[in-house]
Amino acid sequence: MIGMAIAVLATILGPRVAAAGIVWILVAMVVGASIGLYAARIVKMTQMPELVALMHSLVGLAAMLVGFANYIDPAAAAGLSGAERTIHELEIYVGILIGAVTFSGSIVAFGKLSGKIGGKPLLLPARHWINLLGLLVVIWFGRSFLHAGSVGDGMTALVVMTVIALLFGIHMVMAIGGADMPVVISMLNSYSGWAAAATGFMLSNDLLIVTGALVGSSGAILSYIMCNAMNRNFVSVIAGGFGTGGGTPTPKGGAAEPAGEVVAISAADTAELLREAKSVIIVPGYGMAVAQAQHTVFEITKHLRDKGVNVRFGIHPVAGRMPGHMNVLLAEAKVPYDIVMEMDELNEDFPDTDVAMVIGANDIVNPAAQEDPGSPIAGMPVLEVWRAKTSIVMKRSMASGYAGVDNPLFYKDNNRMLFGDAKKMLDEVLVALKA
Ligand code: TAP
Repeated sequence: MIGMAIAVLATILGPRVAAAGIVWILVAMVVGASIGLYAARIVKMTQMPELVALMHSLVGLAAMLVGFANYIDPAAAAGLSGAERTIHELEIYVGILIGAVTFSGSIVAFGKLSGKIGGKPLLLPARHWINLLGLLVVIWFGRSFLHAGSVGDGMTALVVMTVIALLFGIHMVMAIGGADMPVVISMLNSYSGWAAAATGFMLSNDLLIVTGALVGSSGAILSYIMCNAMNRNFVSVIAGGFGTGGGTPTPKGGAAEPAGEVVAISAADTAELLREAKSVIIVPGYGMAVAQAQHTVFEITKHLRDKGVNVRFGIHPVAGRMPGHMNVLLAEAKVPYDIVMEMDELNEDFPDTDVAMVIGANDIVNPAAQEDPGSPIAGMPVLEVWRAKTSIVMKRSMASGYAGVDNPLFYKDNNRMLFGDAKKMLDEVLVALKA
């Protein structure tokens, strides 16, 4: 941030900005910063990925606009000829291309994350061929762009390519199933970095190249790590259509067809089970974040630990809606780090656990990932809470989670459902525990 602040100041005060222009830049910065500050202040923790997706779209839009501006600015290419000019034009073309894909892809991702667009993948027939055709057309127009005699001629090719890139961005993200959205977000983060780096090349701005490459590569590494965590193949996720095999996805948030009997439990009985337990594993998920139940979770944990119960937390790599979401909430509530474990560290311990308490989590504890090869989340590693002596799932209804699939865990003999808002129910459990 300090580096960028110095760079922005140096640019504004440098010889390329006329004194009269500074006022405009300052006005734009104040307006932009106010909007950003306001958005970041009012956003709820659970809406963070949506905000991030929107921000990525702005990076893409900026890269696109700078590309066009650079192309029509006669001063930008003045003095360039031969190979130098070709490279400069190539940078413009590629910069706008990546920017446009990032822009439209991020808008669709925002729509999907905020529930404005359904999470179900849109699978056009022959979609890979459509993408390939788009790529060939983009290359073809790239050729005519580089050979254009005038800015007017080149502009036609540039606009055609931009439209194709925008459509490709929409198509790419529309084809990706809800369960794979986390990977898409970090991938778009990576794209926004590459768009910035391409812009850096175009403007011969070293700092932009470096920061863009930093964001681009760290986003790519994060996407790869998340793919590994979800047992996905990166290329398959990007190619889209994952998670559509014979399973039975239900509409997001909608109740699935009842697949058996569920046994409800009261807060008082939950407290009783916890009181009798020697070891407890708590699995938090998105619902804990929505309900802001982490502080009560901490109180319960403290109470149980004071009574000598071994309490630990099992954190799935994609629990909640962003990487590290649960860790941040638990740290905020002052839960000690040494009892917060990663999935792999305690998945083996469930058979020796008396109570597995699932707080507002769903997909990350879904046995269908292991048992049903046709499930949209098949192959994703999950926390095996059903192997504990008793599992208690705390949620408001029988609604499905993010991936929109039914959860057979709810119908298992050793599972109990504690229906209600996580915060409210945990408050009741705490009162009953202390009674
Ligand atoms: P989900 O599978 O989305 O399940 C969360 C559950 O919480 C819902 O079924 C919901 O059921 C319940 N809930 C919502 N509000 C609640 C409240 N106030 N009190 C109690 N329960 C509440 O969450 P998860 O298990 O954490 O799994 C995460 C999912 O999100 C995965 O599919 C993952 O791929 C995806 N995802 C993850 C990320 C990252 S990077 N972490 C980013 C985007 C998407 P009710 O409506 O019945 O209450």
